[in-house]
Amino acid sequence: MKILFICLGNICRSPLAEGIAKEYIKKHNLDIEVDSCGTSGWHIGEPPDRRSINIAKKYGIDISNLKGRQISVYGDADWDYYIVMDENNKKDLINMGFPKEKIKKIGEFGANNDDVPDPYNYRDMQGFDNVFNMIQCCINNMFESEIKII
Ligand code: 4NP
Repeated sequence: MKILFICLGNICRSPLAEGIAKEYIKKHNLDIEVDSCGTSGWHIGEPPDRRSINIAKKYGIDISNLKGRQISVYGDADWDYYIVMDENNKKDLINMGFPKEKIKKIGEFGANNDDVPDPYNYRDMQGFDNVFNMIQCCINNMFESEIKII
């Protein structure tokens, strides 16, 4: 099983999703590959946003070594699921030609199908804390029920 998490910049939300998922996979000894990327190429090669690094650290997860990358129509064709953070990501992926049935919004797994808000312009850490908890809740549900991989 291969799961790719996607947001706009690949520096705030999807690196958190990657870090949280990797932690879950390690803890439960699962054979699942995960990665994250952005629909944009704005932050290629950059580490995650300092605020995402800090919020992950607060919950015991180190995402400081991740590097931003942009999704590639060719290089990213073989993932089983494309888990996006919001409707714009979904639209972008569909426009790029990724198969609709493999694209799921993370909010489907426990956040009333809401978008994970883009926290990039937030002025305090509460928004990042909310985003972390929303993503973690959805990932737990995703692994435990919907995708039925356990
Ligand atoms: P992300 O957040 O999509 O969660 O990584 C953003 C990061 C950067 C920008 C927008 C959203 N930006 O405009 O550079």
